[in-house]
Amino acid sequence: MVNKNPIILAVESSCDDTSAAVLCGRKLLANITATQEVHEKYGGVVPELASRAHQANIIPVVYSAIDEAGIDVNQIDAIAFTQGPGLLGSLMVGSAFAKGFALALKIPLISVNHLHGHILSHFIVENEASVIETKFPFLCLLVSGGHSQIVIVKDFLEFEILGETIDDAAGEAFDKCAKVMGLPYPGGREIDLLSQNGNPLAFKFGLPRIEGFNYSFSGLKTSFLYKIRDNLKINPSFIEENKADLAASLQKAIIDILISKLVKAVNHTGINTIALSGGVSANDGLRLKLTDLAEKNNWKVFLPNKKFTTDNAAMIAIVGLYKYKKALFSNQDITPKARMSLMDL
Ligand code: KG4
Ligand code: ZN
Repeated sequence: MVNKNPIILAVESSCDDTSAAVLCGRKLLANITATQEVHEKYGGVVPELASRAHQANIIPVVYSAIDEAGIDVNQIDAIAFTQGPGLLGSLMVGSAFAKGFALALKIPLISVNHLHGHILSHFIVENEASVIETKFPFLCLLVSGGHSQIVIVKDFLEFEILGETIDDAAGEAFDKCAKVMGLPYPGGREIDLLSQNGNPLAFKFGLPRIEGFNYSFSGLKTSFLYKIRDNLKINPSFIEENKADLAASLQKAIIDILISKLVKAVNHTGINTIALSGGVSANDGLRLKLTDLAEKNNWKVFLPNKKFTTDNAAMIAIVGLYKYKKALFSNQDITPKARMSLMDL
């Protein structure tokens, strides 16, 4: 009964981006995202404002995606939505929309774990050049604002967590340190841009000593904060005068932490095909370092197209496709979840 190349509409509303995408098989027909600027002046996402903005954005975003895809609503075979993890109020907007849409069109409803979306974003096909045929298993370094994990990807919907952060995520470390420097939210991209003109060896920060494959970023954050606080006492213009060097040194520290455990994971598992995913995978320093290492060590590395690194509905649609193929559909009584593990289907 299931169509081989179904048309899937997906909505993503886990944080502060309202996004809708249309996929035909693996081929992306449309991916529209409305980013909420309302949070900028607060230096972080305000949950209540996020859900209100999702409510205002979701219908126009969905219909823009359907328009851009050039399809008729009646051609849609299934609707996928982000079940979690994320902000509950934001998730509720996407899930309520998806349930209503599925009910009205009498099509299957597919719940998607946002983390699976980041990992499978590599399989979205935009054109001939973007078709990738990855062999399983591969390792995925999943680094976003909420997660930092090393995952063994055994199949499209089969994962094993090798290591994860015990405190802050890598994106959180970027954002919190950027805030200390007075940079706009989210700070990851700002640090990335500033780093390009800075000296990564200018400042040293305390690095974690954590056993196994787990990460920790809270010590680095504290070390960064103390460096700034102590120097500001001596020189009130310290941040302004050292912006690029601070950014480059911080970025180097985060990349060093991420890469050291990844190398350990490759050596331990013998898997040398590596995919990078999540918002932080847009970071040019990290992409360069991984590409360099891959060349030196003969690893195969997959870097996601930058437009699929931060939250988007295309990545939800691709997971929707693989769940559709297995007829893994949800009922109307499904509820969004603020907390979900990578292991939750
Ligand atoms: O995946 P994502 O959009 O949302 C979550 O699921 O968390 O990731 C957002 C995170 C933010 O922390 C943001 O600062 C970070 O990704 N980010 C970056 C870059 N672009 C976005 N971090 C470092 N360098 C970048 N270029
Ligand atoms: Zn995300």
